[in-house]
Amino acid sequence: MHAQIAVLPGDGIGGEVTAEAQKALMAVAELYGHRFSFPTALVGGAAIDQTGTALPDESMDLCRQSAAVLFGAIGGPKWDDPRAPVRPEQGLLALRKGLGLYANLRPVRLYDCLVDASTLKPEVVRGVDLIVVRELTGGLYFGQPSKRFDGPHGREAVDTMSYTEEEVARVVQAACDLARHRRRKVTSVDKQNVLSTSRLWREVAAEVGARNPDITMEHVLVDNCAMQLVREPSQFDVLVTENTFGDILTDEASVLAGSMGMLPSASLGTGKMGLYEPIHGSAPSLAGKDLANPIAAILSAAMLLRYSLDLFPEAESIERAVRQVLDDGYRTEDIRAADTKVVGTRKMGDLIASRITRS
Ligand code: IPM
Ligand code: MG
Repeated sequence: MHAQIAVLPGDGIGGEVTAEAQKALMAVAELYGHRFSFPTALVGGAAIDQTGTALPDESMDLCRQSAAVLFGAIGGPKWDDPRAPVRPEQGLLALRKGLGLYANLRPVRLYDCLVDASTLKPEVVRGVDLIVVRELTGGLYFGQPSKRFDGPHGREAVDTMSYTEEEVARVVQAACDLARHRRRKVTSVDKQNVLSTSRLWREVAAEVGARNPDITMEHVLVDNCAMQLVREPSQFDVLVTENTFGDILTDEASVLAGSMGMLPSASLGTGKMGLYEPIHGSAPSLAGKDLANPIAAILSAAMLLRYSLDLFPEAESIERAVRQVLDDGYRTEDIRAADTKVVGTRKMGDLIASRITRS
């Protein structure tokens, strides 16, 4: 197969981790006889510095012409001025919205050998295997009005949470489709005791549940869910929730997997094209030091093979390689433990690429 994969490294450690993900993809290409090309483009703070906008048209065009996008991370103190007219994050949001990527899949799996990397008790986290489906193109992130202004009582600001039934239905359906290949349980997360959008969410989710009778659908409030995630995470299979709740719950859930540096994600729409990114940010304090954990980006590359290119054995070959390297005792700084070998970003990437084999 020949596929064009757009690489948008972004800021901070973004370029360091996408480079390692690319290594893994090249190893797969070599082994299975595929040809991948990796044109790169600017996004985020790097794009602001060079072009004045967080997502130049050329970057968007390149993504539209590609089979998939491998994304690094964006943001940093340099662009954090709250009064700045453009922000790096706008680049990522424009990509998600512009490409119609409404379903963000964030699998949280704890490798057995990392049980001690979590700050939670081993008996709580052992065997965790859940996936959060985060709605990605609606809610507070995109609702209008969203602005700051001077009101009669001083400074004021407003953000708007809005959802249409179609926006809810399609992402809940995506969650059901995933659950069908798993333990067939979907937990829909909302705040229906307070928010109108959440009452709509619950109503529509229940309707979608009724159309998928093979799936057990349950509904929980987001505050309770946040607590259950650290109390008894193994009760969850697929969680589905709106944009902001999903953003918050997945940072929390990353603790279950040992580190933010372990969590990949796939953002999908109606077609095959998708955007693949680690859930962690640009980690400015680690940038340029060969300290970042590239595993989240590498596992994102595996998701890219699976969801955008339908290359299932190839995806598994990357996931197997990650497991082997961890089982062999190699760790990056964020998941270090007694009696392990701590390596840098590049070495971890090399080790994983070198262990990619056909099953
Ligand atoms: C994420 C990040 C982004 C988000 C930021 C960088 C805009 O936190 O992907 O979880 O809030 O969606
Ligand atoms: Mg986040």
